[in-house]
Formats: sequence, C-alpha cells, structure tokens
Amino acid sequence: MAIAKPAARPANPRFSSGPCAKIPTFDVQNLADAPLGRSHRAAVGKARLKAAIDGTREVLGIPDDYLIGIVPASDTGAVEMAMWSLLGARPATMVAWESFGAGWVTDVVKQLKIEAEVKTAEYGQIVDMAALDYDTDVVFTWNGTTSGVRVPNGDAIPADRAGLTICDATSAAFAQDLPWDKLDVTTFSWQKVLGGEAAHGMLILSPRAVERLETYTPAWPLPKIFRLTKGGKLIEGIFRGETINTPSMLAVEDYLVALDWARSVGGLTGLIARADANAQAVWAFCDANDWIANLAEDPVTRSNTSVCLKFTDARITDGATFAKAVAKRLEAEGVALDIGAYRDAPAGLRIWCGGTVETADIEAMLPWLDWAFHAEIEALAQAA
Ligand SMILES: Cc1ncc(COP(=O)(O)O)c(C=O)c1O
Repeated sequence: MAIAKPAARPANPRFSSGPCAKIPTFDVQNLADAPLGRSHRAAVGKARLKAAIDGTREVLGIPDDYLIGIVPASDTGAVEMAMWSLLGARPATMVAWESFGAGWVTDVVKQLKIEAEVKTAEYGQIVDMAALDYDTDVVFTWNGTTSGVRVPNGDAIPADRAGLTICDATSAAFAQDLPWDKLDVTTFSWQKVLGGEAAHGMLILSPRAVERLETYTPAWPLPKIFRLTKGGKLIEGIFRGETINTPSMLAVEDYLVALDWARSVGGLTGLIARADANAQAVWAFCDANDWIANLAEDPVTRSNTSVCLKFTDARITDGATFAKAVAKRLEAEGVALDIGAYRDAPAGLRIWCGGTVETADIEAMLPWLDWAFHAEIEALAQAA
C-alpha cells in the first residue's frame, strides 16, 4: 500500500544545481540601489564592479597578489578564456570525471589541438590527482556538478609545479575550501553557490598565470571577449572592474547583496558549514534507506553542493524512466523542483545543497522523496 503524503512541505522547494536557490533573505527591493540606466564606466558603476571584486577576495580569502576579473559568458567564458589564452606553451593534462570536465577536454583536444594527456574517470569516481604530471598544464573541475564528485583537497598538487593548474570551481567556490596556492586559474559564476544571476564569470589568476599571459602568445587568434593582454602586457583594468564588455548592473547588485548575506552567515566558514549540514542530511537519508545511494563511491570525494543520487532497488528495471517519474511526482507536489540528474549523467536525482538552501527545507523534502519512491514502486507493481 502507498505510504501517506508527509504533512509538512519545504518552505522553498528550489534544489536546482544552477541557477541555484537565491539567498534566503532575497527580495527584489534589496536591489533598489543598483545604478540602472547608468554607464558601467561611470564612477558609480565602476565602484560597484570593484566592490564585487573586493568582496569576492574578502569572502573567499583570495591572496592579495592574485588578480580577480569579471568576464563575459559566465563560468564557461572564464574557463574558455583561460584555456585559449594560456594553453599551448607546454603540453597539457586534461582531467575529467563528469560532463563539464569532458567538455573542456573536447575543446583542448579537438578545437585547440594541443598535445594533451587525457585522464578520465567514470561517473561516481575521480581521477587520481596525485598521479598527474604537474610540469604540464593541468585543467580540471574541482566539483563535478553532474556527478557529485569533488576533489577532497589540494594535497596532490605540488607547490613547486612548472605547469599551471586551471580549475573550474563553479560549484565549489563559496562551499568548499579552495587551496589558492595550488590553483593558478580559478573560475566560477554567480548563479551557483551564492544563488546569483547568470552570465558573468569570475576569473582568478595567480602571479604565475599572469606571468604566462605576459610571456606567451598563443599561435591562434583570440576574439576580443577573450583578450586579457594588449601588446604583451596584461590589461590591468579588467581586474579593477573595467570589464571587457557591458555587464548587467542588476546582476552585479544582486551579487553584492549575496556577498553581504554570506558575511552575515559567517563568511566562507559559515557557508561551508551550511552546505555540509545540507549534504549531511541527504547522506543520512541514503544511509537510512537501502534503495538509494550516493553516486560518489568514495565518501571523501562526496560533494556537499551537487549531491547526486542513484536508485539501487532491484525492482527497478528502467532506471532513467523511474528517476524521471520520481522527480516529476515531487515537482507536481511542489516540494522539489529541478532535481532530475543532468542529461548526460547516470539516471538518478541531484539535490543542490549549497549554502543558500536551508537545512530545514532539505529535511522537509526528504520524506517526500521516500513517499515518491514508494508511490512509483507501487505503480510499477500495478503495471506488472
Ligand atoms: C562544473 C561546471 N562547469 C561549467 C558550467 C557551465 O557554467 P556556466 O553556465 O556558468 O557557463 C557548469 C554549469 O552547471 C558547471 O557545473
């Protein structure tokens, strides 16, 4: 017999892995100070852009000698810009254990055609980061958003490497500790952990990455929106808020408000604790139910943001159809939106646990997952 529907519902059913839930205090009124209809190059606009850069440095604890720029085309723009501007000076190692990392591999191997060693792992697993050659340039994703597998720490990356490390940290920044001394290029976008608005990318460069930019010119042409240097010198204004092209000042204001909220919950430490508590609630649910499991095989690699789950019940014959039906049932009840696994990932669910999500909402949603699972199992039995 089907189990009864739970009595309580999450106050906010948004568990999408991007764009992610807005900050709990979000109110459009809080954006009223945005300098709308003004030039982003006016003093007021430049000050806001610089505040976004300074706030990023402060909350993430980015060293003073690293540069931070706001660039076009979201995280993809930032990663592409880094790869097209920096790679080719030495061989590359391309690392992927889910779909976004795989996309960067394709770019480097098929588009840039750089000599590269490609290291991949299946969904749920991770590449051995200690086995890589760090005299090459290493491109990797810190948190695999579509597999829920993350790099546990930067210990495997040597301090005295000759190559650069280029790290897509879009679903890690503001939720996981990033070892800045081990990362030469780090990227993320605003709509992930801080629940910001899309279309702007953050590009963070170590002094060694800047040195590469100023001493190496790629053999291929670079479009204006990728260009970080002029006449062999870094365009420094980009890293003070003089963006390459026009940003949305509404999105900038929203990011500034999100940074303020981040400070109010204890900054990076508080954000990490919130994500950990959310993920822990989901992990505990998996431990308590033998029909669902974390896609990440090794507990130390389990993501605390994009928690990916697989159904393990032997009665399920078509995993993809089953998972979609569960997600649809939860969506129809208005208790969990957008939690189907990513289209290229194994069948299952993905529950965003970043700091803008309230643990109480995760806890209120999980009994519904139990209900939806049993309802679908019963539907299977009836159809048989
Ligand atoms: C790991 C990773 N890289 C890149 C992207 C693409 O990000 P954007 O849409 O900000 O370009 C995503 C989006 O989910 C992602 O999760």
